[in-house]
Amino acid sequence: MKRIGIVGCGHIGTVHSYALKQLTKAELIDAKITAAYDTDPDRSAAMARHNDAVAYAKLDELLDVVDVVWICTWTAGHLDAVARAAARGLAVFCEKPLAPTLEDCERLAAILEPIPHQVGLVLRHAPVFALCAEIVQSQEFGRVLTTMFRDDQYFPIQGMYGSTWRGDRDQAGGGTLIEHSIHDIDLLQWILGAPTEVVATTANRYGYVGIEDTAVLNLRYADSSSATMISIWHQVLSRGSSRRLEIFCDDAYIWTEDDYLGPLHVQTKDGVHERIGGVPQWAGRLDVPEVYEKSVIQYAEPAKAFLDGLNAPGGPAIGHPSVAEALAAHRVVEAAYQSAADGGRPKSLLAL
Ligand SMILES: NC(=O)c1ccc[n+]([C@@H]2O[C@H](COP(=O)([O-])OP(=O)(O)OC[C@H]3O[C@@H](n4cnc5c(N)ncnc54)[C@H](O)[C@@H]3O)[C@@H](O)[C@H]2O)c1
Repeated sequence: MKRIGIVGCGHIGTVHSYALKQLTKAELIDAKITAAYDTDPDRSAAMARHNDAVAYAKLDELLDVVDVVWICTWTAGHLDAVARAAARGLAVFCEKPLAPTLEDCERLAAILEPIPHQVGLVLRHAPVFALCAEIVQSQEFGRVLTTMFRDDQYFPIQGMYGSTWRGDRDQAGGGTLIEHSIHDIDLLQWILGAPTEVVATTANRYGYVGIEDTAVLNLRYADSSSATMISIWHQVLSRGSSRRLEIFCDDAYIWTEDDYLGPLHVQTKDGVHERIGGVPQWAGRLDVPEVYEKSVIQYAEPAKAFLDGLNAPGGPAIGHPSVAEALAAHRVVEAAYQSAADGGRPKSLLAL
């Protein structure tokens, strides 16, 4: 049985711990959370209690007694924890964004690349986006002409996020683009391929220095298709995270407003039909109240995929997405920030 340590026991650490505990209880993974560490000892104690695990006062003490670590500290804490875990040969699940600066993302990627790892860009496991990627890549409806992706949520230093580091550039690396829409940039590169150029504007309306609350990107591709991405942190607390993706192909208009199961709507000359992503069959074995089902499965599925890979015979288990894929998304984010700082001039992604 693999012993899992959770490093960073805040919001997402707790979500992962809940999903992992359900997987263990249902005997869907051969792994269990045995250790927790947070710079806030109350948080690691609570996590340990919830999992019948041990809370450690130092990171190195935890790393000495586990096989796999889930790095869930705020973004600026990822690099040091990843480096120390990798030095011990542990497998690492690292949350997104990798780090606040591209230089640190590159350092972190160089450390993770040779060892078993996976990055927490969990939307790659959402059935609706897998359907999108499949349709686009098969060219079932011809070429992509242009894409529109809108992502909005309330400014996340309030509500369920309940912590302030997302208002601090040194901790977060920036605002809505790097912290939230790194998911979207990653999805777009998965579905559409690598962009060749980006034009971006950002705005800071809520006064957190270096934390953009609006970002508008125009991405261009080698085949002369394009994508527009709008990322917003607003102040409507009753409006949680929401995404709308629209893809215009030669022979279809494809859209979804749900970032997990869909449905994915496909309009062709014959009318509109829907494709719905399915949850894995094993999800029925989880003992989760219906209201939490979606969010638990959303995190349980990538966790199970990673742990299954670690237990499979063969070489180092590189999960989906890998750190190389995450780094590619960070390069797009960096070029977008450079374009915005340069008055919206196009930045080539071929040079990065
Ligand atoms: N994949 C996703 O869907 C998703 C969702 C939310 C957050 N995240 C990412 O997860 C990370 C954490 O976000 P959060 O919302 O859980 O924040 P949070 O503030 O709720 O929790 C972060 C925790 O890390 C602890 N911490 C900080 N530095 C530490 C260190 N060096 N060692 C140990 N513990 C440390 C803090 O005390 C806190 O308890 C961020 O990088 C965020 O972008 C990912």
